[in-house]
Amino acid sequence: MPQNKQIHLDNRPTGEAELSNFKLVVGETPALADDQVLVRHHYLSLDPYMRGRMNDSKSYAASQPLGQTFQGGTVGEVVESRHPKFAVGDKVVGFGGWQEYGVVDANQPGVLRKVDTTHVPLSHYLGAVGMPGVTAWYGLVKIIAPKAGETLVVTAASGAVGSAFGALAKARGCRVVGIAGGPDKCKYVTDELGFDACIDYRQHPDVKSMSAALKEACPDGIDGYFENVGGYILDAVLLRLNAFARIALCGMIAGYDGQPLPIQNPTLLLINRVKLEGFIVSEHMEVWPEALKELGTLVATGKLRPRESIAEGIEKAPEAFLGLLKGKNFGKQLVKLV
Ligand SMILES: NC(=O)c1ccc[n+]([C@@H]2O[C@H](COP(=O)([O-])OP(=O)(O)OC[C@H]3O[C@@H](n4cnc5c(N)ncnc54)[C@H](OP(=O)(O)O)[C@@H]3O)[C@@H](O)[C@H]2O)c1
Repeated sequence: MPQNKQIHLDNRPTGEAELSNFKLVVGETPALADDQVLVRHHYLSLDPYMRGRMNDSKSYAASQPLGQTFQGGTVGEVVESRHPKFAVGDKVVGFGGWQEYGVVDANQPGVLRKVDTTHVPLSHYLGAVGMPGVTAWYGLVKIIAPKAGETLVVTAASGAVGSAFGALAKARGCRVVGIAGGPDKCKYVTDELGFDACIDYRQHPDVKSMSAALKEACPDGIDGYFENVGGYILDAVLLRLNAFARIALCGMIAGYDGQPLPIQNPTLLLINRVKLEGFIVSEHMEVWPEALKELGTLVATGKLRPRESIAEGIEKAPEAFLGLLKGKNFGKQLVKLV
C-alpha cells in the first residue's frame, strides 16, 4: 500500500491561526477490508468553516480532534476497491481530509459519491458544483427568495460562494451587486461573473463611505443581502435596506479569529421588518440534488465560470488555508495533489 502524507491539527490557536498549529505526518495506508475503497485525492478543499473547527468551543459541529488528519472535502480517483459499487478509475467526491490517500467504508451513506467529469471538471465538485455552490443556492432560494427585478448584495463576491450566488441571482432576473477586496477581484466580478456592479471595500473602509457606495450601486435600495463577512459592511448595508428585506446570514469571516463584530444599529432590523436567518448548508441535504443540478448546468453551459486558487502539494495546505482567511485567495481555494 502507498505511503500517505497527512496534515494533522497539532495544537489549537489562541487568537489568530498559525502554521505551527499544523503538523505534517507520514504514514502507511492500511490494507483494505471488505466494502472499503482506497481513494487517491486529486484536490483538497480549503474552506473558511475549518477555522471554527480548530477551536475547542461549542458550535454546530464537533471540533477537529488533535493529532488526527485535518478534516475536509476531497475529490479523487478510486485506485483500489473491495466494494461492488465502486471500480478502479471512478472519480469521486468525499470527505477524506488533508491527506494524499483516503480509506473509505463505502457502505456508509453519503461518504463517497461518484461524479461525472465529462462537462464539469473534477475540482469544481468542491466549489461551484459542490458545498459552496449549494450554500449560495440555499441562501438565495430558500431565505432571500427574490423576485425578478429586486436588488441583491453579496460580500466576498469573487469567492466560491459569492461567485455562484451571482450566477444564480442573475438567472432569476435580479440586479446583483458584489462587494470584494481590490480592483482585480471587482473587475472579475463584473466582467467575467456578470454582476451589475462591484464595490471594492478597501476603497470604502468605514460605514459612511461604504453606505454612500451602496447608495450609488443600489439606487432602488437593497431587497436581499447574502452575508459572508460581517462587521462595518453589514452596518452599511442595514442603512440601505428596503422594507421587508431578507438577509441570509451565511458567514462572518471578519470575526473567525475571535474579533468582536458588534452591530451598530440593530433597530434598523425592526424599522424595516427585516427577516434575518442564519443557516448551515449541511443541515439541508434535501435541497442538494436540485441545487447541484442547476449549478452543474450553469457551469457546463459556461454561464458560471468559477475561478480557482490552487496550491501545489499537501505541504502547502496550512499556508494556503491561512491565506484564505486573509483574502489572499482569488476564487475557490484548493490544494492540488495529483
Ligand atoms: N453557512 C454555511 O453553511 C456556509 C457554507 C460555506 C461557506 N460559508 C461561509 O461563506 C463565506 C465564503 O466562503 P467561501 O468558501 O466562498 O470563501 P471565499 O469567499 O472563496 O474566500 C474567503 C473570502 O473572504 C473574504 N474575506 C476574508 N476576510 C475578510 C474580511 N476581514 N473582510 C472582508 N472580506 C474578507 C476574502 O475576499 P475579499 O478579498 O474579497 O475580501 C476571501 O477571499 C465564509 O464566511 C464561509 O464561512 C458558510
